[in-house]
Amino acid sequence: MDYQNQRIREVRDTLLAPERLQALAAPADILKAVELRALFDELKTLPPAERPLFGKELNQLKQELERMAAEATGAGRNTRTPIDVTAPFDVNTPAGSRPQLLGAAQGSKHPLMRELEVVLDIFYRMGFTAVESRELDDDFHMFTSLNFPEGHPARDDYDTFMTVEKDANGKQYIAPAHTSTMQHRVLQQYKGDLENGKPIAVVIPGRVFRNEDLDARHEHTFYQLEGVYVGKGVHAGNLIATLKTFLQEYYGKELEVKTQPFYFPFTEPSFEFALSCPFCDKKGCNVCSYSGWIELLGCGMINPNVLKMAGIDPTVYTGFAWGGGIERLVMMKYGIEDIRHFESGKLDFLRQFA
Ligand code: DAH
Repeated sequence: MDYQNQRIREVRDTLLAPERLQALAAPADILKAVELRALFDELKTLPPAERPLFGKELNQLKQELERMAAEATGAGRNTRTPIDVTAPFDVNTPAGSRPQLLGAAQGSKHPLMRELEVVLDIFYRMGFTAVESRELDDDFHMFTSLNFPEGHPARDDYDTFMTVEKDANGKQYIAPAHTSTMQHRVLQQYKGDLENGKPIAVVIPGRVFRNEDLDARHEHTFYQLEGVYVGKGVHAGNLIATLKTFLQEYYGKELEVKTQPFYFPFTEPSFEFALSCPFCDKKGCNVCSYSGWIELLGCGMINPNVLKMAGIDPTVYTGFAWGGGIERLVMMKYGIEDIRHFESGKLDFLRQFA
């Protein structure tokens, strides 16, 4: 560090001389040196025009000595404020006001998990079993088994995260963008039931991931509920009745539903499924963007190729499937305005449901 002022330069050289430093009981004592105090006294006596430059250089010297003392004691490596990873907070919050780790007795179930239990309970009563999805999957289950062949343009609709590591087929592992990745597995696991005259009836809750631009309606990590039902003579009317029954049970009221044609490689025909806004009963509110309807999920009749790939004969059996976000269901039930609250870990939000 260069100092223009000669007095300051001299004091610096004196204080940092090796024999002077060795004589200190503790490195920080250098800040108490009489020479340094004398410079501060001198500052007060200077003509106003000389004070700014002298003051600035004197401060620089003090900082240089502080740095030197901190490094000498090893404290320099520890001077940053420790970050409490238990909850996100503003690092400028004074220590005493920061969120503390809650004792287990004060903990509560996350609202989403609590609602998931309500959702699953309804499906159990309708005769469905639940199978959990996984948080890392492979290209085959994410795409090929769902009738998206290699190079299929619809693969681009599912932009998610992948590992650098590759599987035995040289494909990267995928953080699943939907719970449909589980369809092939449950079809295989339960196809024996079909031969025994029982339908396949499975719901699959799971965490899914998407490379999204985040806003009040889009989050990179969220939950979906997938449904798969296969049997003899199953048709689209059964699909609509199943979803309508579930939604009326979940919201505890009569609802209207409607479908629109859509496209998914794994269903034929495919639909977008909408329900009358359970918040305003079609009167129009900000939950349904004043349209009276909420587009809730994707669904359709399982594509014969998907059944065939799982070893089920599509000329004998037919089935339906659906998949949709769980947060949306819960947001509408409680009037939650921003999907990002769920993964935020914010106690202000969680405590409202405790
Ligand atoms: N997996 C689709 C998505 O996340 C939703 C979906 C559509 C699931 C149709 C299904 C289905 O099971 O049959 O965009």
